[in-house]
Amino acid sequence: MTFDERTERECAAILSRYPEKRSAVLPLLHLVQREQGHLSAAAMEEVARRLELTPMEVLEVATFYSWFNLKPVGRHRLQVCHNLSCTLRGAEQILAALRDALRIQEDGTTPDGLFTLQRVECLASCGTAPVMQVNDAYYEELTPEKARALLEESSWRAAPSGTPPSARSGARGRASSPSAGTWSGRATAAPSPSTWPPAATGRCGAPSGRLPRPR
Ligand code: FES
Repeated sequence: MTFDERTERECAAILSRYPEKRSAVLPLLHLVQREQGHLSAAAMEEVARRLELTPMEVLEVATFYSWFNLKPVGRHRLQVCHNLSCTLRGAEQILAALRDALRIQEDGTTPDGLFTLQRVECLASCGTAPVMQVNDAYYEELTPEKARALLEESSWRAAPSGTPPSARSGARGRASSPSAGTWSGRATAAPSPSTWPPAATGRCGAPSGRLPRPR
């Protein structure tokens, strides 16, 4: 299996930086997901082959982090934290507002393929709870009203995944871009996993072979 030219080029650059191939598993998974939108079994098997890991070892990493999609998702992935700080400050009301506005259940995708709604564990921004991550941006100090207003942004349709409204600059601080429209909350670029240290993936005796079907 080969990836597109850009992915192959970046893959080679990443591998050149890791004397231990297996340590490149996270950045490679991010690369593949950026190209394909999700991690198919075939793509994970290819990553495993290139890193000299078993497919199961790659699957273990892919299922540990909520970053990764094991099945196709909408262009914009709305991930609402439901851990303690966010729940105490209204995460359930935000989820309910989004479910109602989008007319989908959690883990569902709108018929136009624009949004997927998910409930996730702590996004490590508890001090600005409640928080929602949309692609590569955090929307903080949310309320149900702000969440609904965010969905009304017309620029969602034009934005490729990874560049939601109000967060294109990647700068920390309150959104002030003209494209923000009715959105008046705080938007912050999410931490970039591509620069993180390599994953320490201990072997756990998982069998090699083909992967089970995605969740
Ligand atoms: S509890 Fe929501 S970001 Fe930590």
